[in-house]
Amino acid sequence: SFAPLVDQFQRRITYLRLSVTDRCDLRCSYCMPERMTFLPRKEVLSLEELHDLALGFIARGITKIRLTGGEPLVRRDMIELVQALGRKLGDGLEELTLTTNGTRLAEFAEDLFAAGVRRVNVSLDTLDRETFERLSRRDSLPQVLEGLAAAKAAGLKVKLNTVALKGVNEEEIADLVAWAHGQHFDATLIEVMPLGEIEEDRFDHYLPLAAVQEQLARQWTMTPSGHRTGGPARYWDVDETGGRLGLITPLTNNFCEGCNRIRVTATGQLYACLGGNERVDLRAALRSADPEAALAQALDVAMRIKPARHNFVIEEPGAAPALSRHMSMTGG
Ligand code: GTP
Ligand code: 5AD
Ligand code: SF4
Repeated sequence: SFAPLVDQFQRRITYLRLSVTDRCDLRCSYCMPERMTFLPRKEVLSLEELHDLALGFIARGITKIRLTGGEPLVRRDMIELVQALGRKLGDGLEELTLTTNGTRLAEFAEDLFAAGVRRVNVSLDTLDRETFERLSRRDSLPQVLEGLAAAKAAGLKVKLNTVALKGVNEEEIADLVAWAHGQHFDATLIEVMPLGEIEEDRFDHYLPLAAVQEQLARQWTMTPSGHRTGGPARYWDVDETGGRLGLITPLTNNFCEGCNRIRVTATGQLYACLGGNERVDLRAALRSADPEAALAQALDVAMRIKPARHNFVIEEPGAAPALSRHMSMTGG
């Protein structure tokens, strides 16, 4: 079937987040342990399978594809996928973008722009080199800053993603946002989410954004912005910096009624929600005797199982993560 994707709550699904690898060259401590177990390479979809899958989604009305990871740019043939999908821009696909940690942007920014990418979301939690190293367990801040400069020079619009962490970058948030706006980047703050086992208790660093917003509103004039991406972020215009600030508050605020997205892992598992376990195996469909029919059927199932909302709750000290799967499986 080539019918548009509509779930049982009448939400039109037009946005695919496609993870191309679960691997990453950083080890952010809120995301994964130092000794993270990655998927065996043979489990991961081939370039061709990713491409076929993406085309199948575009045929069903997906207009926006965000490539994610782990870190998408650590996958060797990633740029080939971007180039192939870039050819669908204006032919069903309206936006092709990616979420990256920025460590390899200096190398790829120009190629991404040439392939049709116009915006990238870059994760950056701190501008302090020591804090960066402590948090990500790698001394990569200089590369990320180089990557950001290269993205800007190549003409890419940038949105920074910052996970707000108590006792880590809490004191630095206003400076980081002001810096981003000075660079003409959008900025988004994210509450840490209970996804996957790590070596620390996320509760120790959980910082509700309502408190951060209150603090920022004391020094800045913040007015609600009309800007919408169909995503979970609610945006504010900051008079003093002239920039836009997004807040992603899954734990303190419900934004699921307007959800337009699904996500697929690097092994072809479609997760209907970031905060749930409902899934369909698209790899099995792709590798079946009649891939087209099997894929159509799998997508119909996905629309029936997409939950009304995620079920994240604010953790208590020592509580196990709500979901055993790490963010790096489904790319945020
Ligand atoms: P746009 O595509 O421009 O809307 O960007 P985005 O902010 O949705 O995407 P990005 O990859 O920058 O994601 C930022 C963070 O938002 C992710 O790391 C997740 O933490 C969070 N996020 C994205 N989608 C969802 C979602 O469906 N539910 C929840 N709870 N969080 C999400
Ligand atoms: N909670 C919130 N955000 C997370 N990220 C990774 N793990 C978590 C988590 N447990 C963020 C990264 C990146 C985005 C893709 O997801 O910092 O900005
Ligand atoms: Fe890698 Fe992103 Fe996880 Fe950090 S948050 S370890 S950059 S996947």
